[in-house]
Amino acid sequence: MANRKFIVGNWKMNGLSEQLTDIAEIAKFADKYEGVDVAICPPVTLIAQAAEHNPGFMIGAQDCHYADNGAHTGCLSAAMIREAGARLSILGHSERRTDQHETDAEVKAKAQAVHAAGLSAIICVGETEQQRDAGQAVEIVCGQLAGSFPENADASWLTIAYEPVWAIGTGRVPEVADVEEMHAAIRKKLNELMGEGAGGVRILYGGSMNGGNAAQLLAVANVDGGLVGGASLTAEKFGPIIEAAAAA
Ligand code: PGA
Repeated sequence: MANRKFIVGNWKMNGLSEQLTDIAEIAKFADKYEGVDVAICPPVTLIAQAAEHNPGFMIGAQDCHYADNGAHTGCLSAAMIREAGARLSILGHSERRTDQHETDAEVKAKAQAVHAAGLSAIICVGETEQQRDAGQAVEIVCGQLAGSFPENADASWLTIAYEPVWAIGTGRVPEVADVEEMHAAIRKKLNELMGEGAGGVRILYGGSMNGGNAAQLLAVANVDGGLVGGASLTAEKFGPIIEAAAAA
């Protein structure tokens, strides 16, 4: 049986309180599509207000620390983002793996912390263009997945997002055959890592997904949804992706 589609908006470092109206519009739009799970991960400064004003709509964070508390200036724990109103967190996004030098081991520890706090996790993996050109894409992505994979993983709280680094924010999208190959490889790796239950873990595609290409991407085997950056900032852009997921 196909997994329920999951469409997640990653707002990155975009959004002040005036953009709360966009979240409200997205929440209202998402409400019309019962067959699709939808979430928005705004900057952490908007989580509490977004959650308060849109009860029932899934609001998430874009990162959290792996420690429960302590001397980590500027960081937020899983309990803190949960208290603010987040129900999930994106973890190990390639921008954080690059800018903050996050390692697989850290991403794994973060996923375990998020789960311990009662939240869901979306672990991101993806190859660079150089790695793809060298024919290493599957090996790199499966290696990241194995290294970042949390203990006691379960489909009820864990989602994987495949995001080719070269497709993020560039308007470039991989060939359908390459998406299919990678998502099948991730599914196979999940089977090895967790055995029974691996089929229920949703695998999202991310990287320049938009209203024009969503239907094609969401129709690919083992693509259970999308992680969307630029096209998630307004209901006008995000709506067609939710619609495509409902029709997939
Ligand atoms: P994009 O970003 O949709 O703007 O390419 C996706 C992501 O980085 O999650």
